[in-house]
Amino acid sequence: MSKLDIQMPSGLDILVTGGAGFIGSNAVELLLNDNRVTVLDNLRNVDDRFIRKFRENHNFRFIKADITDKPAMDSLSRHDLIVHLAANSDVRGGSEDPVTDFRINSEGTMNILEYMRKRDIPRIMFASSSTVYGEASVLPTPETYGPYMPISTYGASKMSAEGFISAYSHYYGLTGLIFRFANIVGINSTHGVIFDFINKLKKDSRKLEILGDGTQRKSYLHVSDCVGAMFHVNALSRSTDIYNLGNTSMTSVRKIADYVTSGLKLRNVEFMFTGGIDGRGWKGDVKVAQLGIEKLLSTGWKNRYSSDEAVEVAVKEAIGQMGTT
Ligand SMILES: NC(=O)c1ccc[n+]([C@@H]2O[C@H](COP(=O)([O-])OP(=O)(O)OC[C@H]3O[C@@H](n4cnc5c(N)ncnc54)[C@H](O)[C@@H]3O)[C@@H](O)[C@H]2O)c1
Repeated sequence: MSKLDIQMPSGLDILVTGGAGFIGSNAVELLLNDNRVTVLDNLRNVDDRFIRKFRENHNFRFIKADITDKPAMDSLSRHDLIVHLAANSDVRGGSEDPVTDFRINSEGTMNILEYMRKRDIPRIMFASSSTVYGEASVLPTPETYGPYMPISTYGASKMSAEGFISAYSHYYGLTGLIFRFANIVGINSTHGVIFDFINKLKKDSRKLEILGDGTQRKSYLHVSDCVGAMFHVNALSRSTDIYNLGNTSMTSVRKIADYVTSGLKLRNVEFMFTGGIDGRGWKGDVKVAQLGIEKLLSTGWKNRYSSDEAVEVAVKEAIGQMGTT
């Protein structure tokens, strides 16, 4: 990731919740150039493999804690900026276990906001999701689209967290930057379709089970563009606001399967589509998702990679990384 063309904060004490994870570890790497960074993570979704290398850096601190543990959150010292990424990121698991989305994503965010209120912390950057829109009838879907009718508890929990951030910003004057991410791919990813396909093909390289009918189409954004866009918007925003972060193009699941098989240099792999409900990958999966990113583009930001390019690069990165971890 180019460190020069992104307007990063500097000289701040920054708390990154979920900083051991995929997007978090990428953000922390950039932030550590010029800030003191505390990662708060309970290592629920991933171990500390992506943040181990920061431990020697005297500007880095790690706190193993759970955002649902209110006393632990209340005992944190003050920070200038919160980058709130900790979440139950298992969108698929919601129909089996809906309460976890509520506890971590909604209640956990409330705990962060209460901590911010008590410590008079002025700013939060929050990772929300395209899933808040549900099955939008307008594509690409702009930030102004409504009504929101999420079809997953993950989407519902992100929607409620956004609502609390907005209310706290009105009550207590804090600034909340809400980023609705498309599907993020790239280095340090430990979940999602690319990761899933590579894992399956490592076990059996002759066939690949593809959830749904393969025609699901979504917009993919490389993690370097995601983190870059977040801090680009952060540098120019003075008040609470919402931004979609995505790409202007989409990539089908079938095409991702092709990128993965050719990335692994496999030929004649039999694709086995599960079909699913209406061709969806799982209950709660939005079949076609594309965020409108006019608002982001109007700030002067440009993504480095298109959706297809992001997938292609991420496939190479994942193959390289999964061979070594
Ligand atoms: N990756 C995507 O495509 C995508 C899309 C939309 C939104 N998001 C959001 O972006 C954020 C980062 O996602 P990611 O893909 O890096 O996921 P991730 O699972 O890699 O990272 C989340 C991190 O949060 C930590 N965590 C989970 N529950 C916690 C808890 N109760 N207390 C403390 N830490 C906890 C995990 O251990 C993990 O390190 C999440 O909020 C996710 O919902 C991601």
